[in-house]
Amino acid sequence: AFAADMLGIKVLVTAAGTYEPIDPVRYIGNRSSGKMGYAIAEAAKKRGAEVILVSGPSALTPPDGVEFIGVESAAEMRDAVMEHFSEADMVIKAAAVADYRVRNVSDQKIKKNDEELNLVLEKNPDILKELGEKKRAGQILVGFAAETQNLLEYAKAKLEKKNLDMIVANDVSRKDAGFNTDTNVVKLLYRNGAIEELPIMTKHKLADELLNRVLKIKY
Ligand code: PMT
Repeated sequence: AFAADMLGIKVLVTAAGTYEPIDPVRYIGNRSSGKMGYAIAEAAKKRGAEVILVSGPSALTPPDGVEFIGVESAAEMRDAVMEHFSEADMVIKAAAVADYRVRNVSDQKIKKNDEELNLVLEKNPDILKELGEKKRAGQILVGFAAETQNLLEYAKAKLEKKNLDMIVANDVSRKDAGFNTDTNVVKLLYRNGAIEELPIMTKHKLADELLNRVLKIKY
């Protein structure tokens, strides 16, 4: 059923992984198809929200009616997110941002030889942490945590460190959850310590369930 319960609300969603260049033809990056983030953008749009979707490279078509900003690297994602943060009522960060980038990106294609190739990786900015520091009263910040172990412990640490209102803990070691699947299995952690376990469902259904909860936090 269509409920226009997000009219007048501005939502900033990030999706997909970032690509960090090594040279003009190679990159390192995180596994993420964009399905989770695009589903959230689409659901919010259907409910009447004004949606800005900042996305790393993805094979998906942006949902109709959303403002789409395509980026490649974490640095570009950061710039796009910061540009639109102040106008957003809520930010949902489903993107898989690369934590590291290559220090000396080569202008030319690196020619292979018989030696090893060593890349030095330096830390990327943590976009969500910066948002948590800049967040003003009334703005809602939702993060994801993709983990292969200690899911709840690591997710709780990220919720606190990044000053989030809710974190979606995603066990990416399961076959039916995480990267590139059409379904997902998550646990939701809140600031007051509450933990909610959701059953397996499609990413589209989960998107609506997440929005229901975010709206409850805010309104
Ligand atoms: O796109 P799909 O194929 O559908 O897959 C969906 C998903 C598994 C990618 C998604 O559900 C998910 O879990 N996204 C978060 C992936 C991730 O990178 O998590 P993380 O634990 O590394 O990061 C925690 C949070 O901080 C995330 O909200 C992330 O967007 C944010 N972050 C991380 C690093 C960084 N430098 N800046 C950030 O903002």
